[in-house]
Amino acid sequence: MKTRITFAALAAFLMASPAFAQPAAAPTTGPAAGRAIAFNRSLGNCLACHTMKGGDVPSNVGPMLNDMKLRFPDRKVLFQILWDEEKRNPQTVMPAFGKNLILDRRQIEAIIDFLYTL
Ligand code: HEC
Repeated sequence: MKTRITFAALAAFLMASPAFAQPAAAPTTGPAAGRAIAFNRSLGNCLACHTMKGGDVPSNVGPMLNDMKLRFPDRKVLFQILWDEEKRNPQTVMPAFGKNLILDRRQIEAIIDFLYTL
């Protein structure tokens, strides 16, 4: 019991020390965050398959992502495509980002914020 208390105290002390302070966190919502997630090769990696304005080494496996607000005025439709495109097209090569836990809800919402700037 005594050891446990000491441990807790030590942990609390360490967490409070500046050495453990987190650097200013990058934003996790909004278009800028969405762009970072979309372009990150180990997160959205959208450029592996899509051409998107501002992206380097884009691809044309999937359709170009442009005029998104015009083409997808209903945000829910975009969310569903990102959550589980297999539902719309069982043959798709696009990963089911939400269903397969590649991205969480907040990340998908941020990507949609970004898509609406394209
Ligand atoms: C492995 C390839 C691949 C990746 C990675 C991928 N997609 Fe797709 N995506 C496709 C293909 C192929 C389609 C065409 C529709 C289909 O196959 O169902 C598509 C369709 C779409 C559509 C519908 C576009 C339209 O005009 O109909 C959107 C929106 C979309 N993708 C967004 C994204 C976003 C955002 C990402 C990154 C988070 C992404 N995709 C990652 C392959 C991919």
